[in-house]
Amino acid sequence: MSLFLKIAVDGPSASGKGTIARRLADQFHLSYLDTGALYRVVAKHILENGGNPDNPEDALKAAIFVRDHFNWDMLEDPSIRNDVVADATSRSSQIPVLREALMDFQRDFASHPPHNPHSKPWEGSILDGRDIGTVICPDADVKFYITASTEVRAERRTKELNNKGIPSSYETVLQDMAERDARDKSRTTNPLKPAPDAVIMDTSDMSTDQVFETACAIIRRKLV
Ligand code: DC
Repeated sequence: MSLFLKIAVDGPSASGKGTIARRLADQFHLSYLDTGALYRVVAKHILENGGNPDNPEDALKAAIFVRDHFNWDMLEDPSIRNDVVADATSRSSQIPVLREALMDFQRDFASHPPHNPHSKPWEGSILDGRDIGTVICPDADVKFYITASTEVRAERRTKELNNKGIPSSYETVLQDMAERDARDKSRTTNPLKPAPDAVIMDTSDMSTDQVFETACAIIRRKLV
């Protein structure tokens, strides 16, 4: 059997982890799952059905629905990126039964990703999120924890939103980010934290290319 590579990428929002995970997926022919998008789809489903993102029953119903009716287009829906869904996601992702309902889906993807026709000579998966290295894939071959200062992340996010034509102020973005970080880190179930064996990369003063090259070098060492 050929080598199977499983990579976990965790970190707070706007740390650049999604960009890095996507580039690594391309580079090493891995199937990629953006687990933040999955949580966002669930939150959107709660809202669309008139539910409350803080209510465990509504959250569980939505998670089961999304899990059982999953298709890849759901993750590409641009509306899961808007502020209302982002806030609902930050709330609903605190709920233990919702996280539990999505656990096996993520683990199955990590161990048996959909076949990627480019995945020769090795196959594998890369997932990004908050608890991939700690809870979903504690057995990952390589774990990255990508972070940056709150100020740098808020600056990046403000620029990104303004570039998309969504007028945003740095102060508001910074405040939202601090609140969501606090929720991610302080929740009792699977909080955001680096796995003990994760490579921690503070990207505050690094370019995307530098982060990518560093990550590639670490992965290549695993492949020899
Ligand atoms: O990575 P993102 O910003 O798209 O994540 C959206 C929200 O989902 C964020 O509030 C944290 C939450 N999330 C989570 O709790 N666990 C994950 N594995 C991924 C995301």
